[in-house]
Amino acid sequence: MRLYVNIDHIATVRQVRRTDEPDPVRAAVLAELGGAHGITVHLREDRRHIQDRDVRLLMETARTGVNLELAAASEILELACELQPFQVTLVPEKRQEVTTEGGLDLEVPGNRRDLAEALRRLGELRIRTSLFIDPDEAALHHSKELGAHAVELHTGEYANARGEAIGPELARLAQAARMGRQLGLAVHAGHGLTYENVVPVAAIPEIEELNIGHSIVSRSVFVGLERAVREMGDLLQKAPGMVKEPGAWIPPIGF
Ligand code: PXP
Repeated sequence: MRLYVNIDHIATVRQVRRTDEPDPVRAAVLAELGGAHGITVHLREDRRHIQDRDVRLLMETARTGVNLELAAASEILELACELQPFQVTLVPEKRQEVTTEGGLDLEVPGNRRDLAEALRRLGELRIRTSLFIDPDEAALHHSKELGAHAVELHTGEYANARGEAIGPELARLAQAARMGRQLGLAVHAGHGLTYENVVPVAAIPEIEELNIGHSIVSRSVFVGLERAVREMGDLLQKAPGMVKEPGAWIPPIGF
């Protein structure tokens, strides 16, 4: 299981004041010292948090893989082709949303066309590609047909579920992960994962990479980023042993 730490939220704090701190590039160093296997940044068209400068510097300084999230039909694809990060995750982007609200809509032919073109260009450069999708069968089949290396399953519905709704959402993720693997796709997951809810997802054997941002950065305000990343990494390592059956996890007080 690889932990990719999303540092957009560090840049969000900086952009509130349009100043130069806190610097997400320096945060990436601490995340790596805390054991992150990679650094994720989403360069949005509206540049609300991460800036071009951050991605350029990160590409020079990161010791791990950089996973660059971007919308396929944006000019940011040019930057990705120039900088050639280890991985590009293609995500939907809406100007009004607070954060990415769901997976790519692969039922729309225009979206598939844009994605196919982006995947072709990234593939020519041998950049690993991932599509951020909802955990459903049709989206997995489309992802396979489009030729992505991986899918990132959107865990937002699971993270928002409460009480009896949690089990079915987890089962949906587990089933999608199984199907993704059967189709020959690498399976990642992310969005809304926290210290409290991550263990059952990390225990799904087919999931090999998690992208986590908000919860880690929130904890880092109190314990520091390096420690916050390390604590998440420890949880992921122990996850399979902590959950004997999906849904059986109750986080102990302190998480
Ligand atoms: N994966 C994707 C594709 C995302 O857009 C985000 C949010 O930027 C994340 C993972 C991380 O979500 P969170 O900040 O809720 O951990």
